[in-house]
Amino acid sequence: MCGIVGYIGNQSALEIILSGLQRLEYRGYDSAGVAIYEDDQIHVHRALGKLIELRKKLDGDVPGKKGSVGIGHTRWATHGKPSENNAHPHSAGRVSLIHNGIVENYIELREELKGDGCVFSSETDTEIAAHLFNRALGTGLAPFEALKDTCGRLRGSYAFLAIDSDNPDRIMVAKNATPIVIGVGEGEMFIASDIPAILGATRKVIILEDGDIAELSADGIRVENDGKEVKRPVETVTWDPVTAQKGGYKHFMLKEIHEQALVLAETFRGRLNIQDKSVFLEGMNLTDEEVSQIDRVVFVACGTSWHACLVAKFYFESLTGIPCEVDYASEFRYRTPVYSDKTLFICVSQSGETADTLAAIELVREHAKTLAICNVLGSSIARRVGDVVFTHAGPEISVASTKAFTTQIVSALVLALWIGERRDAVSAEKRGEIISQLVHLPAAIDEAVKVEEQVKEIAKKFHQASDFLYLGRGSCYPVALEGALKLKEISYIHAEGYPAGEMKHGPIALIDEHMPVVVALQNSPLLFEKTLSNLREVHARAGRIIAVTDVKGNAELAEVCEEVIEVPYLSEELSPLLLTVPMQLLAYYVAVLNGTDVDLPRNLAKSVTVE
Ligand code: AGP
Repeated sequence: MCGIVGYIGNQSALEIILSGLQRLEYRGYDSAGVAIYEDDQIHVHRALGKLIELRKKLDGDVPGKKGSVGIGHTRWATHGKPSENNAHPHSAGRVSLIHNGIVENYIELREELKGDGCVFSSETDTEIAAHLFNRALGTGLAPFEALKDTCGRLRGSYAFLAIDSDNPDRIMVAKNATPIVIGVGEGEMFIASDIPAILGATRKVIILEDGDIAELSADGIRVENDGKEVKRPVETVTWDPVTAQKGGYKHFMLKEIHEQALVLAETFRGRLNIQDKSVFLEGMNLTDEEVSQIDRVVFVACGTSWHACLVAKFYFESLTGIPCEVDYASEFRYRTPVYSDKTLFICVSQSGETADTLAAIELVREHAKTLAICNVLGSSIARRVGDVVFTHAGPEISVASTKAFTTQIVSALVLALWIGERRDAVSAEKRGEIISQLVHLPAAIDEAVKVEEQVKEIAKKFHQASDFLYLGRGSCYPVALEGALKLKEISYIHAEGYPAGEMKHGPIALIDEHMPVVVALQNSPLLFEKTLSNLREVHARAGRIIAVTDVKGNAELAEVCEEVIEVPYLSEELSPLLLTVPMQLLAYYVAVLNGTDVDLPRNLAKSVTVE
């Protein structure tokens, strides 16, 4: 989720690139850099921290201010900590290159390049692409052919911009599964990872497609895909700059709900091996022996992340066979927890900065094994634990977490498979089954988002209710809790999540004709029937039921419900993910109808860094 900007034309590239990067600031970043061709050479400037740090470095008489060809980057770290060395552009010989995405096979390529005498100065996956491109150019290939050759070696997602000091009249571009847009000007071209970066300069854009390799000069573009020249149309953008930052959506929350298919694929990219029925987690410090000794897993987290832990517990119990507990970090930190060096503490945090979660991990990290499931590389939590599984959700801007939740659940599932495999607790067959279902998850999530119009209509019927009850059983009880939390956070309506089977022990007294009851009902032979009978109890008391389910066309369910929202079914393990999407959309549309500040709800902060 890095920001990319490039310019080729007749103006000074530096200022255009820096202001483009500034407009991408909402994506969040940890370092920035530029490479500008000027006076027969490429000048690279990089700085750790926000763009202002790079601007400080560029104060005064530094080379690169006059050049009219350049590329710039703001980094959201994925491989390698945030540091100046890891900041882009990365250079090799004649080449400077920037990248957004993840190169999956970078470890094997790095070894190959090292064997070839290449020296690496960063820990990034990107630097291998710079070396590959430079090596290909060194064999006498033209830049276009050299970039094709480079991309042919790479697996993963990428948007690359590269400049070559021997061919300074062009910028080379490659795109695969990561967005890139070209802005067309008069005798000048702009390139960016996102439309807002170039809106100030032009409204005419070319959207590149996966597999495109392009060569840009000041007044032209040549694009090839799969070895054949292709024409990409020039389109006109009508968005205002703020809408553009939100990708055309009214709110970041809606954008992030829609982004889930894409980022879930990023979460497991490079981690699943379908053939071997095994998972790969990069850079884990836990040894096989330590994994085999773990006798207890304790999850600690807050809010939405805590709900993700509740789903994770199901995965851990069934796939690792290790007893597992889930604790609120804010409670845990003030107890005297009992644990040993065989306990594995897993803290889950989107931001990696939540004060309570940080304090909980501080309490035990000296004497237990610690691991984080976290979205922000270099964050305080990520730096304090023994191991980190990054969620790769990209910056989440809306205060209400959506994509963070689903990527945390998938990360936990991958981690449970990884541990289960090492402990021989899960058969290869079961691993293979889950891995193949995960591969289909992004498409199924995209399908689930299509209930949006139906949900909008449901929101119109129910948005004036003063209370909502959310129910679920098994791994869908956390989905009910999360649905209720989303509604509370952004619409300020009282909502309560409850295990469906517990309803008769109290909350059933609340049910009357005014009470909307939202239920997450998974396709499980046992739990579907059980939950259905709880719904009959609600129906008998005139409660208004909105069911979210991955069971298709069930007549008995339709009979007791006022609304049934159906999403695709993949497996019982993945039901919580698919059933979450309509819950997020329902909260969103109720809040929109009630006119609240959806992305910045009252009294809340994105990252709770105080007690
Ligand atoms: C989610 O919608 C909330 N904004 C909140 O509950 C959040 O999940 C919680 O504060 C934990 O944050 P973290 O994941 O960054 O640690």
